[in-house]
Amino acid sequence: MKQPEPPLLFSSWQIREMEISNRIMISPMCIYQAEIDGKASEQHFAHYAQYALGGAGLIMMEATAVEAQGRISAGDLGLWSDEQIAPMQPIISYAHQQGSKIGIQLAHAGAKSSSSPPWEGGSFLDKTDADKGREPWQSVGPVDKPCAPGWPHPRVLSSSDIADLVNKWGNAAARADAAGIDVLEIHGAHGYLISEFLSPLTNTRTDEYGGDKGRVRLACEIVEAIRANWPEHKPLFFRMSVVDGINVGWSINDSLKLAKQLIDLGVDLIDCSSGGLGTKREHAIPRVPGFQVFLAEALKTQGNIPVAAVGLITEPEQAELILQAGQADLIAIGRAALNDPYWPRHVAQHFDLDKNFEKWPPQYGWWLDRRAKGSLRAENS
Ligand SMILES: Cc1cc2nc3c(=O)[nH]c(=O)nc-3n(C[C@H](O)[C@H](O)[C@H](O)COP(=O)(O)O)c2cc1C
Repeated sequence: MKQPEPPLLFSSWQIREMEISNRIMISPMCIYQAEIDGKASEQHFAHYAQYALGGAGLIMMEATAVEAQGRISAGDLGLWSDEQIAPMQPIISYAHQQGSKIGIQLAHAGAKSSSSPPWEGGSFLDKTDADKGREPWQSVGPVDKPCAPGWPHPRVLSSSDIADLVNKWGNAAARADAAGIDVLEIHGAHGYLISEFLSPLTNTRTDEYGGDKGRVRLACEIVEAIRANWPEHKPLFFRMSVVDGINVGWSINDSLKLAKQLIDLGVDLIDCSSGGLGTKREHAIPRVPGFQVFLAEALKTQGNIPVAAVGLITEPEQAELILQAGQADLIAIGRAALNDPYWPRHVAQHFDLDKNFEKWPPQYGWWLDRRAKGSLRAENS
């Protein structure tokens, strides 16, 4: 009988000179556990090491601020200083040792900066926080409008502030390269700074950074600054909120147009997310399995653009069918990986690709294989 084709999920993929061993990317996920000065902590090592052990082809490290002011919370990772390079290196070399490629998402939180972690409310820091030693800081944005009712007003970025900030993105890219990172992702989604500049709902500027042409200018300048500081052979991803929500604000057509511009400037893949402006979700796409896959598909099929799909992709067949249907090139997994860091290895077993646990780290696989074969002796040794 003819063998079924091997699943695409476990086919390798090359982009520029980076080859990943499977199509599974751990989606960027902030854990807000940096040392106070944005340096990677032991918790970061443990967090990312588990995904490397778990067999992900690519691990995208969390939103990492290009300047201190651009942190979401005081616990965000940063790459605004050379001192932040060394603490990141053990994470990177461990991922490489386990056969994963590792990226980092560069970010600026804009008007959503200076807040508490989600499990402490995720709201802006205020005087009560200051009394507890957690000083709020001034946020910045395209206009003098809070990101949500009641939040502090951001300071409006002038053209020369923007030029400084664009340089900081470039400098952070150079530091990521020095640290040994394989791929960068620009965080252009979820209502943070770049996304606030892109959306007509939040960017009402009348200068060269506003209007239909000007709203994309910051994103393009950041890509140019990064490409000038990031090696030609290394890939660059851009996470986009492909729509602000259902029939509101930034649209799929806007994304298609921007994605083509970004590809011309040196971006290699669009990581397709959605929403995030403000703190309410009135126009959000309903959270059904694979709820954002159609956005990735639109960019891929209408623009011939390499894309990652993300959002409630949790099941092996679901992930595989997205690839087989040509809806995406990479599958990004977020909470499914929090729940099971060994998701890629378990999925490989589900597809009968690793019956004898040979692809697991041998320190685990040897025992698991014996257990599966019913050996008691090994358990007692
Ligand atoms: C704990 C956590 C932290 C997150 N942090 C980031 C982040 O740093 N950058 C980002 O673009 N998205 C972030 N996200 C969104 C995820 O990358 C992902 O897009 C989202 O969770 C949907 O995918 P999922 O259903 O597989 O979790 C985060 C999500 C979670 C659960």
